[in-house]
Amino acid sequence: DVIDAEGLLVLPGFIDTHVHFRDPGATHKEDFYTGTLAALAGGVTTILDMPNTQPPTDSLPHLTEKAAIAGTKAVVDYGFYLGATDTNIEEAATIAREVAAMKLYMGSSTGSLLVTEFSPIYRHFSTFPLEKPIVVHAEDEQSLKYFGALGLQDHNQARPPVSAQIALSRAIAIAEKTGRRLHVAHTTTQREMELIHEAKQKGVRVTCEVTPLHLFLNEEDQHRLGNFGKVNPPLRSKSDQAALWRYFNIIDTIGTDHAPHTREEKEQPYSKAPSGMTGVQTMLPLLLNAVSQGKVSLEAVIERCVVNPAEIFGLKTKGALQVGKDADIVLVNPEEEYVISNEQILSRCGWTPFAGTRIKGKVQRVFVRGTLAYDQGRVLAQPGSGKPVAYQG
Ligand code: NCD
Ligand code: ZN
Ligand code: ZN
Repeated sequence: DVIDAEGLLVLPGFIDTHVHFRDPGATHKEDFYTGTLAALAGGVTTILDMPNTQPPTDSLPHLTEKAAIAGTKAVVDYGFYLGATDTNIEEAATIAREVAAMKLYMGSSTGSLLVTEFSPIYRHFSTFPLEKPIVVHAEDEQSLKYFGALGLQDHNQARPPVSAQIALSRAIAIAEKTGRRLHVAHTTTQREMELIHEAKQKGVRVTCEVTPLHLFLNEEDQHRLGNFGKVNPPLRSKSDQAALWRYFNIIDTIGTDHAPHTREEKEQPYSKAPSGMTGVQTMLPLLLNAVSQGKVSLEAVIERCVVNPAEIFGLKTKGALQVGKDADIVLVNPEEEYVISNEQILSRCGWTPFAGTRIKGKVQRVFVRGTLAYDQGRVLAQPGSGKPVAYQG
């Protein structure tokens, strides 16, 4: 068949290295089918799934269980994170080749994974293969407790920027000492960007991720969105948001932190409502829109959403439109305008914090490994057509 792409942008499929698809354990929020469906419709053809499921992906049996689930449900390609615990240090190193990276929660978030003490963090950093990234959720548990004890009610205060800075400084220091690759998830503040910039200049092997949530929303949106805008780390001030754009050059990846929760869960009292928002379906549209507004170049977006993710996580056949790589292709109409709505969201929880946002640039068709999988609103891919990614080395 001949595909007519006249007037369309031909992009490599986006790689979202930070999604929470909730399978197994919380499939009322999302599962591997609905999560990858939302990815596909958003032009994301490869995802890396976080380990804070139930059970957590912290051992070979749990990894094998999750891989079997994804194998029957996924419609885009996928890889997994291994979750760090206080005790799985040796085991993690032995199964490293089966995963994209390790995820280490220095501060608590959704799920039970948490490693707060120096000794297990240091041992993970020195034992996990140095070339595979350890991705940190860099918020400091002790600081979170202090601020909790002070009785601060407001979410932004209860998760203060200083908690992220403390955890990040510690992670960078240990990465420097051990000579390992460190990737910092969801960086949100100017001070963190400065710390990462300094560390990079010193030669520390650190890279960082920023989410579309923190690029496009700030604490004023949190007031508007209420619990639906509650996320870890929280939406920050306008000046921190502006700093992320100013430091765009040292941002290595844009990952969505797609973290679905149902409306019922979000509508509980503030302190009980879980943290996280959807994002995998809206990343490419929001970034295309930013390109059309002249905020950023298309090349800079492709670098952070395709090229760098493939390089950092060693995704063998992903990363660009070139010979030897998979033909994961997204056709976009750069002129078509539309408004994002909850009805468009294919994630099981069915809502997005970006409902009402006007977008210029629409995903038309998506090919996964050369096969047309999504065609102007119609999903052609069958559950199980998504494949596990292969890793370098
Ligand atoms: C994430 C989730 O719900 O899984 N929540 C969040 O607020 N970001 C966990 C995480 O990434 O910290
Ligand atoms: Zn996190
Ligand atoms: Zn996350």
